[in-house]
Amino acid sequence: MIQPMEGCDGHGDGRPSELTIRRYKRFGTSGAGLCWFEATAVKEEARANPRQIMLTEENKNDYQKILTVYEEGAQNLYAEEENEVFHNPIKILQLTHSGRYSSPGFKNPLRMYWYDVLDKAYGRSREDGKILSDEYLDELPDYFENSVSLAKEIGFDGVDIKSCHRYLLSESFSAFTREDSKYGGQSYENRTRLLKNIMKRVQKFASDDFIITLRLNIFDAIPYPYGWGVKKEEDTNALLFTNRSPVPEPDLTEPIKLLNELYDMGIRLADLTIANPYFNPFVSRPYDIPVGNATKPNEHPLEGVSRFIALTKEVRENVPKDMKLIGTGYSWLRYLGGYIAADQINKGNVDMVGWGRMAFANPQFAQQLLKEGIIDKKKTCISCSKCTELMRMHSVAGCAIRDKDVYSPYLKGEKKIDWS
Ligand SMILES: Cc1cc2nc3c(=O)[nH]c(=O)nc-3n(C[C@H](O)[C@H](O)[C@H](O)COP(=O)(O)O)c2cc1C
Repeated sequence: MIQPMEGCDGHGDGRPSELTIRRYKRFGTSGAGLCWFEATAVKEEARANPRQIMLTEENKNDYQKILTVYEEGAQNLYAEEENEVFHNPIKILQLTHSGRYSSPGFKNPLRMYWYDVLDKAYGRSREDGKILSDEYLDELPDYFENSVSLAKEIGFDGVDIKSCHRYLLSESFSAFTREDSKYGGQSYENRTRLLKNIMKRVQKFASDDFIITLRLNIFDAIPYPYGWGVKKEEDTNALLFTNRSPVPEPDLTEPIKLLNELYDMGIRLADLTIANPYFNPFVSRPYDIPVGNATKPNEHPLEGVSRFIALTKEVRENVPKDMKLIGTGYSWLRYLGGYIAADQINKGNVDMVGWGRMAFANPQFAQQLLKEGIIDKKKTCISCSKCTELMRMHSVAGCAIRDKDVYSPYLKGEKKIDWS
C-alpha cells in the first residue's frame, strides 16, 4: 500500500492544487491495493503548514478531484492488464489536527503540555502558541465528525483518525505532565480519552463499505515522562534530551492495550508507525543522508529498519488477528524492501506493508513488484531526505531525484510557491 505522503501543495483555502492532483494521478497507476491519502486538516488552525490540504463543505467538489484522478489511474491499469492482479484499490483519508506542529501561519504550536526540547528542535518558543484547554479538546469530536462525513460523502472508503508522529492525538497519549485535566496526568484513561471520544463519535459512520481506522504511533522514541510506548523509568535526561540518541527503551504495554480497546470498539485496521519526524526522523524513516546539515544519527539505518519491524511484530503478537495491521519504514531498503515485506507477511509478523518515500520516487513500485517480482533498481528512493528538506524549507514536497524536473527547481530555490 501507499503510506500517506504530504506534498504541502494545496491552495490557501485547502483545495488541492495541480501538483496535488498530479501526485494522486501518479499514485493511481501504482498498482498498490490501498492508498492512504495524506494528512488533511480538520480545521484551519490545525494545519501543519499554510498549504496543507483541508476538506470543507465549500471545497469538497474540488477536493474530490484527487480521488477521481486516482480512481481513473487505477481503473485504466485494470483495463490494460486484463488480469486479476489489479483491482479496485481501497482509499483511506487521513484526518489530522497538527497540535504542536500546527503552523497555518508558520508558527502556532497548539500543545497538550509544555516540553521545550521539542519546541526548540523546531525553532519554537513558549511565546509562540499555547497549551490547549480541556474545553477546546472537548469540541474536537465535532470537527472530526464533520470531516468524516464529508470524506464519506465524496467517496472515500474510510478515514484515519491520525494518532501518530506527535501531532495532537499522538501527543495526548504522553500527556503525563498535563495537570488538572481530564486529558492528562498519570491516568492512561485520561491520556487516551481524546482519541476514544473522537472514535466513539465517528464510529456511527462505519459500515461494510466505510472503514474507521487510525495511524497509530506505537513508540515515540522520546523518554518518559514525555514519550509514549517507552519504559516508564524516570529519565533524568528527559529534559535535556537533545542529541536524540541513544533511542529510549520501548515498552509497548499501553499502545497494545489501546489497540485491544479499539478492537472492542469495532476497529479492524491500524497502520502502525513510530517516532517524531521533526525530532528523531532516523527512527521512523531511516536514511543515508540527513536533512540539510543535520548531524547523522549514531546508529546505522538498518538498525532503525530492524527496530521498526520488531516493534510491529510485537504488536502483531498481542492484538486479535482480525485486526489487520500495516507496517512501514521499508523505503531505505530500496529494491530489497519487497522481499523483506513478503517475508514479514509470510511469517505473520504484519498483514500488509506500505511505502512512503518510495511512492514519491517511484509510484509504480507495487506494479513492478507484482509484474517483475522486483522494484526497479534504477527508480528507487535513495533515502537522501530531500523530500523532507523541501518540507522544512516550507516548499512543496516531492522527490527531487527521481522526479527532478518538477521538484529540483524548488529545492534549488529557482521556483517559488504560487500562494494563490
Ligand atoms: C515528505 C513526507 C511527507 C509525509 N507525509 C505524511 C503524512 O501526511 N501523514 C503521515 O502519517 N505520514 C507522513 N509521512 C511519513 C510516511 O508516511 C512514512 O511513514 C515514512 O516516510 C516512513 O516510510 P518509508 O520508509 O516508506 O518512507 C511523510 C513522510 C515524508 C518524507
